[in-house]
Amino acid sequence: MVDLSVRIGDVTLANPIMPASGTFSPELGAVFDLNRLGALVTKSITREYRSGNPTPRVAETASGMLNSIGIPSKGLDAFLNDIVPAYRRYGPPLVASISAHSPEAFASLCHDVSVRDVDVIEANISCPNLEADGRAFAMHADLTEAVMRRLRAATTKPLWAKLTPNVGDIAEIARAAEAGGADALVVANAILGMSIDTDSLRPTLGAIMGGLTGPAIKPIVVRMVYQCARAVSIPIVGCGGIATGKDAAEYLLAGAAAVQVGTVTFRHPSAMTAIIDELAAWCDAKRFAAVTDVTGAVRDDDYSTDRYEAVR
Ligand SMILES: Cc1cc2nc3c(=O)[nH]c(=O)nc-3n(C[C@H](O)[C@H](O)[C@H](O)COP(=O)(O)O)c2cc1C
Repeated sequence: MVDLSVRIGDVTLANPIMPASGTFSPELGAVFDLNRLGALVTKSITREYRSGNPTPRVAETASGMLNSIGIPSKGLDAFLNDIVPAYRRYGPPLVASISAHSPEAFASLCHDVSVRDVDVIEANISCPNLEADGRAFAMHADLTEAVMRRLRAATTKPLWAKLTPNVGDIAEIARAAEAGGADALVVANAILGMSIDTDSLRPTLGAIMGGLTGPAIKPIVVRMVYQCARAVSIPIVGCGGIATGKDAAEYLLAGAAAVQVGTVTFRHPSAMTAIIDELAAWCDAKRFAAVTDVTGAVRDDDYSTDRYEAVR
């Protein structure tokens, strides 16, 4: 029997598999037993009601999908009164993803979401900071560190920073989030993309650009996890294109302590349970007695870093 339990800071998870924010809801409890998951992660919420982006919001691409959902949110009251209780019917730790457009609004939302039934706050800092000309917090090290400091002061809950992959030097952002007080990093959100319908000549998404997710992004984000794991000492939760247990293992080998699973759930609603079983079988076959032994176990000792410095 492989020990699948992992610790992310002060939080213990029964296994390293959890959903990615925005790709999951408690209604999936009708499809599979949500108590099997390592954690539950909510869609990002905002304080106010938001209707989201113009349609179409989703487009298929080769080995992935583009979305421009735009964080529709029922607001804080609905979150606390309806969404948290719906998740609390299940046992795994509850991770509340939050989003806001200024450091002050982020901090006050973080404070108000830090209720007893929420176990972890995941700050989706990929959103624009309207006080910094709309630049996304996580695209700049200074904005990342500043907002994380505000959030750190606003809660005693474990605090995870979800980074954007739309940067040149992810390790620099990872260090800034750690310096600002993050207990863990989620690497990463969707990759900015665009596609055009060659019949209508129109962008496929109503918002023109959107986030690319699914298997197409996995090699890019595995590389980022590898770089972040060498830059920080806090745990990393990998996220991007995981569809199988071996995909999850790849992220762990690169340095992640746990992973989040998103797009595949739209095709296979119970995919995460298969991923847990496949990961356990893979650990067994590779003679890993505990999944924690897999983290960072990539055999790269005799490889030169020049190989990737050249393309960094
Ligand atoms: C439809 C959709 C909605 C999403 N909504 C959110 C969100 O609200 N907050 C967030 O941090 N990430 C959001 N994401 C990004 C995912 O959490 C995840 O980072 C991304 O999909 C990469 O993982 P995947 O390739 O396994 O899907 C969303 C992704 C999709 C596809």
